[in-house]
Amino acid sequence: MGDTAFGQTKQAAYDGLAKEIAAVIEGETSLVARMATVSNILHHGFDHFFWTGFYQVDPLKDEELVVGPYQGTMGCLRIPFGRGVCGAAARTGEVQIVDDVHAFPGHIACDPNSRSEIVIPVRGPGGALIAVLDVDSDQPGMFDDCDGRNLSAIVVSAFAG
Ligand code: SME
Repeated sequence: MGDTAFGQTKQAAYDGLAKEIAAVIEGETSLVARMATVSNILHHGFDHFFWTGFYQVDPLKDEELVVGPYQGTMGCLRIPFGRGVCGAAARTGEVQIVDDVHAFPGHIACDPNSRSEIVIPVRGPGGALIAVLDVDSDQPGMFDDCDGRNLSAIVVSAFAG
């Protein structure tokens, strides 16, 4: 559904972006470099991606996320598990799709222009949660199951292998 800046369907755009990401990170062992590449390519792939990036699980804290590589306006630095949309994804291990962030209990408004968002849990090779991928839009209702499926597949191939 939906056209992108490139005039393709959303699925076709994801197919192209997933290939580009896989080609760039092939053989790269740095987690930061892989996360930076994923956030950059996704962010520039869709006009409505307003904030695109990672919150990593901080191994030195108890159930706390700390901001990682991202593209967009200034993000909050730390998010406890269970707080806001990212915290809900970290706590439940499930994809969160929020059509209207103002209606989400405990939403963290890093940027008041954020209106809808999707958050994908990111697991490492051993299956443990290592991060969440957070994509925000400045328009309401911009994310659906197609985004959930494709972003989940991208983070599996980038971080679980
Ligand atoms: N909106 C997020 C916080 C992170 S930022 O928007 C970059 C949330 O409620 O989880």
